[in-house]
Amino acid sequence: MTVLENTSIKHLNTFGIEAKARFLAHFTGPESLGKLLADPRFEGLPKMILGGGSNVLFTEDYPGLILKNEVKGIEAVREEGDVVLVKAGAGENWHEFVSYTLNHGWYGLENLSLIPGNVGASPMQNIGAYGTEIKDIFHSLEAYEISGGAVKIFDAEACRFGYRESVFKRALKGRYIILNVTFALSKTPRVNTRYGAITAELEKAGITDPTPKDVSEAVIRIRQSKLPDPAELGNAGSFFKNPVVPEEVFKRLQKEWPEIPNYPAGEGRVKLAAGWLIEKTGRKGKRTGNCGMHKMQALVLVNYGGAKGKEIYDLSAAVKKDVYDMFGVELEREVNIL
Ligand code: FAD
Ligand code: EPU
Repeated sequence: MTVLENTSIKHLNTFGIEAKARFLAHFTGPESLGKLLADPRFEGLPKMILGGGSNVLFTEDYPGLILKNEVKGIEAVREEGDVVLVKAGAGENWHEFVSYTLNHGWYGLENLSLIPGNVGASPMQNIGAYGTEIKDIFHSLEAYEISGGAVKIFDAEACRFGYRESVFKRALKGRYIILNVTFALSKTPRVNTRYGAITAELEKAGITDPTPKDVSEAVIRIRQSKLPDPAELGNAGSFFKNPVVPEEVFKRLQKEWPEIPNYPAGEGRVKLAAGWLIEKTGRKGKRTGNCGMHKMQALVLVNYGGAKGKEIYDLSAAVKKDVYDMFGVELEREVNIL
């Protein structure tokens, strides 16, 4: 097993932040992971798992061991009537996995096309886009307990999924390493085109009876039209979550801004669009030093090149303050800060 020391991780995070890891190693399964965790060189040091690095911001050099997840493999483990259970290694690239399932006639992931990163991180924040979240097609996952090395199975209930949330970001933060994820997919095409932007994109293409592949292609076109490609402009997607506020807060805001986008969130709560709130503060497309909020999507913080992690963090704090001062709404960061 190769262990790199004091090594750059710039190519391992989509913000393209120049930072160093004290140690960096790869693992391909529970055996290699167990060996690394038992290595006395790393005893007492902080440890983190890295997938595609598309939802992290390094604000300083990482003082411990970064474990890069390379657990591979995709297999259909069981078929029951219309349902096929498909298991994917945590180190598989997410979009390649989505394409693989579609090519095999296994449906349900099409709305989640082109999300960067790896399969293993998908349950961490219950990734979602265009009307689907992974909790909708999730079956179970296997995770390695860092203290003790037991491999435990989590079903959907045990994962406690919420909007950009799971138990792995909360009560079990830093305690488990996800090894593989199993999805319950359908052999019958059943498309979900309720999200307004998908309906509009399909109409534009003249498609009235879309297949899952049509939906996937529509999602790809929408994403490419407004989200910056990290290969060209460093970013980690939405920097903040969309805030969910009590109904009375929403009513107060709607009085002043009748056009404010809003989505019912259940239990007397309303989800607001953070991108809209940020745009109203005048931050959209505005550059501050080496970074800024993207000109097409104000919720995406971009690195124009050479930004330090601290500079990006400071800009996010200024954006949070502007939104709070203007609307009295607190934004919460979606990106994992290190
Ligand atoms: P990383 O950034 O490597 O890790 C994220 C977190 O998960 C870290 O805390 C890490 O320690 C932990 N982690 C990673 N793998 C494991 C594991 N195997 N076991 C335990 N912990 C682990 N997200 C959405 O939900 N919807 C979107 O539409 C979306 N669009 C995006 C668009 C762009 C252009 C970009 C850059 C990002 C977007 N994202 C989106 C965010 C990001 O792609 C997802 O959060 C993705 O799941 C992160 O995967 P990753 O492998 O890159 O995770
Ligand atoms: N909006 C603006 N100005 C902007 C950006 C958005 O007014 O600069 C408005 C839009 O007009 C629309 C609303 O805000 O009325 C929502 O915008 P959009 O449909 O682009 O989605 P979003 O809420 O900004 C969320 C997710 C994305 C996901 C898309 C599509 C979060 C934090 N973000 O963005 O996920 O791809 O919906 O489903 O929930 C991510 O998590 O990294 C991510 C990119």
